[in-house]
Amino acid sequence: MARVFIARQLPGPALDRLGRQHEVEVWPKREPPDYETLRSKTAEVEGLLSLLTDRVDAELIAGATRLRAISNYAVGYDNIDLEAASQRGIPVGNTPDVLTDATADLAFALLLAAARKLPQALDDVRSGDWVTWEPARHLGADVHGATLGIIGMGRIGTAVARRARGFDMGVVHTGRDEGLPLDELLGQSDFVSIHAPLTPETHHLIDADALARMRPSAILVNTARGPIVEQAALKRALESGGIAGAALDVTDPEPLPNDDPLLQAPNLIVAPHIGSATKAARERMAEVAVDNLLAGLEGRPMAHQANGAG
Ligand code: DGY
Repeated sequence: MARVFIARQLPGPALDRLGRQHEVEVWPKREPPDYETLRSKTAEVEGLLSLLTDRVDAELIAGATRLRAISNYAVGYDNIDLEAASQRGIPVGNTPDVLTDATADLAFALLLAAARKLPQALDDVRSGDWVTWEPARHLGADVHGATLGIIGMGRIGTAVARRARGFDMGVVHTGRDEGLPLDELLGQSDFVSIHAPLTPETHHLIDADALARMRPSAILVNTARGPIVEQAALKRALESGGIAGAALDVTDPEPLPNDDPLLQAPNLIVAPHIGSATKAARERMAEVAVDNLLAGLEGRPMAHQANGAG
């Protein structure tokens, strides 16, 4: 029986399954444990189930001398120092596939909401500004017939492309297999949707230069990771009309403080990182995260392992 620290309560029955085999401590609060708390908890255990809000860096890993397995409750693992874990031979699990469609649905929901100015229209109803049927109010952009540019044609990007084709959109994408260079994609697209992982190469990939290459009528959607977009540059592009709108499910930092200057920008939608937030997807993520952790603790390969260790 190993000791395991779970950095937050997870939905569904998966943690009960873990608790029947190991000694489990679940962080009980709504907010994540702060770094020092996470460090001292992790120093005492063989298994860690972390969330994307938990920074599992080289220092934390070095201090966790008993640690044998890390399982991240997310497909992304940019919160974990993979190299430090690998050097210690600690496998790091993640939860791909089970959240692909939920995240693609949310990306498309944001795209539609931004295109049709849905938040502004709903605000008018609530604030009593629904005066009459107005020919020239709330005029959005057509989605059908428009071109969607997908940055990162992996699982989620491909699922978004499927939805786009169902809406009679043209689709272009970056990457291998007939992918366009980023500059060309930005110039051709009416909507740009980001589905790349956060790496040193994608950090601020969408900066002032990239935004300047987008069409003034274009809308940017980001459901991947906040730091892929340079937010100060995005604010300027929205304010100057360099692009027509942006819909973000991810920001830098998270949560975005409610006095963050970005929130003053026009034509901006910000959601609180809910891409995978369906009951089914989050419960399946918990099952995969628990399976990964059990495998790592038993010295078996994880079904979804982000590093070669283990
Ligand atoms: C992930 O899994 O990386 C998402 O951002 C949250 O589900």
